[in-house]
Amino acid sequence: MRFGIRTLDELHLSGKTVLCRVDINQPVDRATGTLKSINRIRACVPTVRELSDKGAKVVLMAHQGSDIEYKNFYTTKPHAAVLSELLGREVKWIDDVCGPAAREAIRSLKDGEILLLDNVRFVSEEQTLFEQKLRLTHEQQAKTLLVEKLAPLADCYVCDAFAAAHRDQPSLCGFEQVLPSAMGRLFEAEYCTVSQVMEEPARPCVFVLGGAKISDAFLMMQTVLSRGVADHIVTGGLVGNIFLTALGQQIGQGSVDFIMKSNYGEYIDRAKELYAQYGDKIVLPKDLGWVENGERREALLGEVPADIGAIDIGHETVKVYSELILNAGTVFVNGPMGVFEQAPSEYGTKAVWDAIANTKGHSVLGGGDSITATEKFGLTEKMGYICTGGGALIRFLSGEELPVVRALRHGATIPEKGE
Ligand code: 3PG
Repeated sequence: MRFGIRTLDELHLSGKTVLCRVDINQPVDRATGTLKSINRIRACVPTVRELSDKGAKVVLMAHQGSDIEYKNFYTTKPHAAVLSELLGREVKWIDDVCGPAAREAIRSLKDGEILLLDNVRFVSEEQTLFEQKLRLTHEQQAKTLLVEKLAPLADCYVCDAFAAAHRDQPSLCGFEQVLPSAMGRLFEAEYCTVSQVMEEPARPCVFVLGGAKISDAFLMMQTVLSRGVADHIVTGGLVGNIFLTALGQQIGQGSVDFIMKSNYGEYIDRAKELYAQYGDKIVLPKDLGWVENGERREALLGEVPADIGAIDIGHETVKVYSELILNAGTVFVNGPMGVFEQAPSEYGTKAVWDAIANTKGHSVLGGGDSITATEKFGLTEKMGYICTGGGALIRFLSGEELPVVRALRHGATIPEKGE
């Protein structure tokens, strides 16, 4: 038991039917029906392998795509093929979620066999818009179609979907009301890692916050500063530009226009308030970079031309940030320092990422852009821990109780049959 949640060590798995919720939500190339990345599928392999090796009949549930964006709402069929390849054993797949065909496929599983059901979000009660409109309690989620149809076929429930732990949906929070439950190995590793950052980070604890997800960054800053978790927050990207604007620095009209056009103006006041209270901990760029006729340019604050749009931090800033990062006990990273996707403005992110890779402290990275940057610079193997979660990680570090954690604690109180 860790954090009041069972681990896989505390379930009897041999010969049991296990419903296992994973998060293998990946970008999909719709033209070819293939997955553009497989990192989340790779990350859940240890749990699936362990369940199968211990003789469980493994039923995997997963979502693909968001009903809010509707962009990559898609079947899980390609995921089954990838998982099968990674495991080196067959992963059956069925184009049904909880109907008669799915239930029959579950009943016919033999010990050690693995079945992936189709996208759980094809069932409307699993969708985020449904969650937001109806706000079902966990007890009510136990009465949904998905749980009522599948739970009677299973002996226990395992959740390995830390990346979806901020979602309050039946496949994530309903089964724990009726089945003995545990977290999978990935969930355990991710939850322990981020709890460590929050509860007892090795000091000094440096947060590297950049990118363009402003609401996430501000929510998190408020919490980690007010709780004394962060010793320093180094800022880049839009986060840095908003602070500089709040302090009356000239960062170029193009940069300010971008803040206003993106409706981030309200954060300028939030930045002023945060800086007034925690200015000794918030570290801001000393110089900025921009691109002119395809060439990189840089200037110190105070000398930045009025008409540019800053899209990177400069060399002087990198010196200060690298020093803090290299000597940190903990480095938590969310969001790049600038537009790292193009060569003239990749410098700041690349240099800061090199420092993260070489810090003597423990580094934890999360969020899609941070992971993309890590892969682009070939630093994946040198990072301490790369979290599969984006939204879940931010919610956790913003001090919210994750619904799936609450549900799993409840599921830990349900005894196994014969216990
Ligand atoms: C994610 O990609 O952050 C998780 O898979 C959750 O997806 P969602 O935001 O569509 O619920």
